[in-house]
Amino acid sequence: MVLLKYHELFIECLADLLAAEPVLRMRNFVQHSDVSCLEHCVCVAYLSLILGRAMGVNVRRATRGALLHDLFLYDWHHHKRKGFWPHGFTHPAQALQNARRYFELDPVEEDVILKHMWPLTLRHMPLTPEAAVVCLADKLCALAEVFGIYRRMRPQILAFMEAEISDTGLKKT
Ligand SMILES: [Fe+2]
Ligand SMILES: [Fe+2]
Repeated sequence: MVLLKYHELFIECLADLLAAEPVLRMRNFVQHSDVSCLEHCVCVAYLSLILGRAMGVNVRRATRGALLHDLFLYDWHHHKRKGFWPHGFTHPAQALQNARRYFELDPVEEDVILKHMWPLTLRHMPLTPEAAVVCLADKLCALAEVFGIYRRMRPQILAFMEAEISDTGLKKT
């Protein structure tokens, strides 16, 4: 069943990641309001696909990096920071470390993950068009989630997740 406009292409880019346990574990963590980290990453990946197609970037790399961009795997609302810098500054490096541990990444996908919080992470400016697209998509999704605009798009994303992501018994959104 086609649930999203670029459903087939989206699956083609992400099928292996959407079946991977570390990615599914993101279901257990809240990102913004009642949106899980996994739902947020699916949303950012899908928006990156739409924007990336329009801008002519490599959508496979953009969507794969986008799906892993917040793979920090902890509840950031109750996370005790290890050093001076809060979650907003440190989680891209943590997500990259986890993503490297579980998946084979190419340099563009690494750029996407590490640079997605720019300009907050001032020194980590996106150097690839794919990273720039995901950086933008992440901000648009976060704003949409926080201000309730995401509600309009949400049924499609949730239906996609229900249909395409296997249930591992972990908490669902
Ligand atoms: Fe993030
Ligand atoms: Fe994000």
